[in-house]
Amino acid sequence: MNKILIVGPASQILGVKIANELGIDVLNTETKTFPDGETYIRINIEDETLIQGKEVIIVQSTGPNASGNQNSRLFELFMMIDAVKRIGASKIVIVSPYLAYARQDKIFRPGESPFANVVMSFINSLGIDEFYTVDVHAPTIMQLCSCKVVNIDSMKLLADYIKSLGAEDLVVISPDKGAIERSQAFAKHFGDNIPVDCFEKKRDVNTGEISMSGTLSLKSKDVVIADDIIATGGTMATAIKLSKESGARKVYAVATHALMLGQAKFRILKAGADYIIGTDSIDNEMAKVSLAKTIADYLKFD
Ligand code: R5P
Repeated sequence: MNKILIVGPASQILGVKIANELGIDVLNTETKTFPDGETYIRINIEDETLIQGKEVIIVQSTGPNASGNQNSRLFELFMMIDAVKRIGASKIVIVSPYLAYARQDKIFRPGESPFANVVMSFINSLGIDEFYTVDVHAPTIMQLCSCKVVNIDSMKLLADYIKSLGAEDLVVISPDKGAIERSQAFAKHFGDNIPVDCFEKKRDVNTGEISMSGTLSLKSKDVVIADDIIATGGTMATAIKLSKESGARKVYAVATHALMLGQAKFRILKAGADYIIGTDSIDNEMAKVSLAKTIADYLKFD
C-alpha cells in the first residue's frame, strides 16, 4: 500500500474513520509535555520505512479540548509534518478540519497581528503538498498556500442530520449579518423556500462582549441557528434566547466546530436549545455528524 495515515492526538476518532473509509493503514502518535512546557510528539513506529517513499496523510484538528490547547495542537501538527518530511514521505497531505487562529484574520485594534495569515503561511512553508480544512472561518487565508488547498463544506451533512431528527416548518437564523450568505446556502439544503433571517449582533472589540437585539416572526417554527464556530456559546445562547422570545418551537444549535469552551453547553441549553449539533472536527460529545466519509471522498479523488 502506497498510502498511510497518521492520526494526531486531536483527531483520534476522525483519523481512524478516514483511514477505514480509504482502506489504508493507520499509525498513531505518542505525545507528552516536557517539564518546561515544550511539546513532544513522535509517530508511533520503530521502523521508518513504513513512511519512507509513501504518501502520508496527517489528520490533526487544531482546536482546544480537554487534552490540549490550540497552541500545542498546532505545534504537534508542525512537528508531525517535519518528522515525515525528514523520513522521506513522497507526498504530505494535511487534514486539519478546524484551523486554529482563523478568527484572527483582521486587525480590529491598533497593534494587533492578523495571525491567521502567519499560521497558514507557516504550515505551507513546511513543504506540504495538499491541505484540507473544513468551513474555515476566513477562507481568504488559504490563498497564502502555494500547495493545493481545499475548504470542505459541512453544510449538507449537518442539514441531513437535522432533517433526520424530524425538524419541520423551518426558519434558518444567521448568527450575524456577515454570515447571512452562508446561512442562505445552508437553508437550500432543507428545500427551496426556507426563510433565512438574523438578529442584530454587535461585538465590543475591546471586551469581546456580544449584544444582540431584535424580534423575528418565529411563532411555532422550528429554528436552526447555524454558525461556523461555537466557542464560549455567547453568540449562540443569545440568538436562542431571542428566538424563543420570538415564539420559536424547537431550536437546533448547529456549528461545524463546536469547541464548547467553559460554560458553553450550560449557556446554550439554559437559553432553550433542544439540540446542540457539531461535527467530529472537534472530538467531543457534540460531534453528532462525522466528516470522515466526505473527507475520504476528497482524498480518494485528489
Ligand atoms: C464569529 O465570527 C464566529 O463565526 C462565531 O460566531 C463566534 O466565534 C462564536 O463565538 P462565541 O461562541 O464565543 O460567541
